[in-house]
Amino acid sequence: MPLITFEGIDGCGKSTAVKRIADILESMYVPYYVTTEPYKYRDLIFSGSKAPLEELALWLADRNAHINEVIKPVLAKNPYTVILCDRYTDSTCAYQTTSTGLSLEYLKNLNYLFVEGKYLPTRTYFLKVDIKTAMKRVTKSNKYDNQSYAWYYNIETNYLNTFADRSDVVQIDANQSIDDVVRDIFTDLQRYLHNVSNHAK
Ligand code: TYD
Repeated sequence: MPLITFEGIDGCGKSTAVKRIADILESMYVPYYVTTEPYKYRDLIFSGSKAPLEELALWLADRNAHINEVIKPVLAKNPYTVILCDRYTDSTCAYQTTSTGLSLEYLKNLNYLFVEGKYLPTRTYFLKVDIKTAMKRVTKSNKYDNQSYAWYYNIETNYLNTFADRSDVVQIDANQSIDDVVRDIFTDLQRYLHNVSNHAK
């Protein structure tokens, strides 16, 4: 179950990187599936105002639906499918610690519950970018855009705290050109997939 996630602050370039990695896997005939969060409740999450806990509940519900309606069926067809997921559990840790004030430990436990104790990322690429660069790149309008430098900094700090004790997370220098970002991710991914397939033998 290679569940590969891509994380980073808004504007880090992750979505472009995911597409490029998918193109490489395609050209190598590696089975893959690209998916994104929010998956099901995007409109609900981003419309209107809601209390932080209400919003957290939607993020968790969205993830559990994503697992049951997408990830499980994809893996049932072929358990070796490389799932490339643009944002996942670590986004909840990074963003909802800020919005709810809950501790990281508490959010990790909630994540564990909603991934049914099983569907945690197996490898995570954290695209770390200079905050000012990221802020310049953000052009879309969801409710989190047009935030202050301090807000971005806070999210980045939450990510770093989330990843502090994780050996499955690879930090990528996302200030580089997209070609270099993709090269760094793919170099690691290739090695990772090779190790996984050797273990499966
Ligand atoms: P989106 O427009 O998809 O942006 P991006 O291309 O940066 O992923 O918006 C997703 C936003 O949702 C992003 O600001 C992070 C936020 N988010 C959470 O707050 N919690 C979560 O659990 C997830 C998955 C995303």
